[in-house]
Amino acid sequence: MRMLGDSVVESVVQTIEGGRLFRYDCKSPEESATALLEKKFAETFGFKYALAMNSCSSGLFVSLLCAGVQPGDKVAIPAFTFIAVPSSIIHAGAQPVLVEVTEDYVLDVDDFEKKVKGGDVKALLLSYMRGRIPDLDRVREICETYNVVLLEDSAHSLGVLWDGVQTGQFGLAAAFSAQSYKMIDGGEGGIMVTNDKETAYKAMMYTGAYEQNWQKHFGTQDDESLIKSMTHSYPAYNFRMSNLSAAALIPQLDQVEARVEHFNRNYNLLADMLCDHPNVRIPQFHPKMRPAADSIQWEFVDLGKEQIQSIQQYMQSAGYKMEIFTGENARCYWNWRFFECAEECPFTKQLLQRTVDLRLRLHNTPQTIQETGKTVLAALDKFC
Ligand SMILES: Cc1ncc(COP(=O)(O)O)c(C=O)c1O
Repeated sequence: MRMLGDSVVESVVQTIEGGRLFRYDCKSPEESATALLEKKFAETFGFKYALAMNSCSSGLFVSLLCAGVQPGDKVAIPAFTFIAVPSSIIHAGAQPVLVEVTEDYVLDVDDFEKKVKGGDVKALLLSYMRGRIPDLDRVREICETYNVVLLEDSAHSLGVLWDGVQTGQFGLAAAFSAQSYKMIDGGEGGIMVTNDKETAYKAMMYTGAYEQNWQKHFGTQDDESLIKSMTHSYPAYNFRMSNLSAAALIPQLDQVEARVEHFNRNYNLLADMLCDHPNVRIPQFHPKMRPAADSIQWEFVDLGKEQIQSIQQYMQSAGYKMEIFTGENARCYWNWRFFECAEECPFTKQLLQRTVDLRLRLHNTPQTIQETGKTVLAALDKFC
């Protein structure tokens, strides 16, 4: 079975047959799958510039550099996020500042305001962990008031809208992930977006557009004198995407809306089955957002650690990879031993230790979702 569909297989085969797998081994952007992906991504989701990279992690790091984050600067993040997020800040020489999340697993805007009031937080790297978004209107207001640069970690939020607008449109720059567990699957991959020309060109340089290779990107014709002045002015990494990943991703952009519908339908089906159980609390999505729910989280209430572990083991033996945010999980901030965390976030810590994380998959059907729901309810019956 072709899990990602015939169009993906055909696109990749065509790129292999063309023999040009390196984005700069092409004469023009029209011949490069990577440049074509960038153009299509920008057009589809309404961004001025898109830059394909090897990962979203690279995109986050480059966004911080483009925002002028300097060694020693403080960068706020929600305390519930993936290890890549604080890591990008540490790689930039800066210091993560952890902010509590609410019972809906999103940035606690009151705690955020408290932490930026002192005036020494340079940026907010707003991670939309598991595609959940806080009150973005308030977040933007606070950022403006305290002069905090807003950067969006949109790794997990392709298809997620705030007030009808795709996330990634609200800050200076954002990065999406195209790793296999995300909405579009390039194996690995990331796409940084911005509507700011200087940020886009700078990012291109950091990502590794050496010599005149900027000519092989769309959008560089907007201001050739600016981009020429930037060439070799920034230390270059190689964070580029391969044409192979790009070829796999191009046809998937047309499928995002259908995938969002599929995931949301399955999410609602499962959430409806579980929400009335007295030991389960399903978090809410903000009414101004449209989710793209390719995973589900819920909190176990009035259950002890051992009961939760027994339920997890029951689910695992039934073939479900149901995770709890405990042990060595890379999303538990207390496991990030590479930096000394100045602040504790006790609410977040307690919440996560009672939280389940279950991926929904493209191949799920209403029947398999119903089986999942029944298995969770059977586990609850057995151990509660
Ligand atoms: C919230 C979040 N941010 C960032 C990343 C990093 O993305 P990538 O694996 O593409 O570097 C991930 C990946 O799982 C993620 O879930």
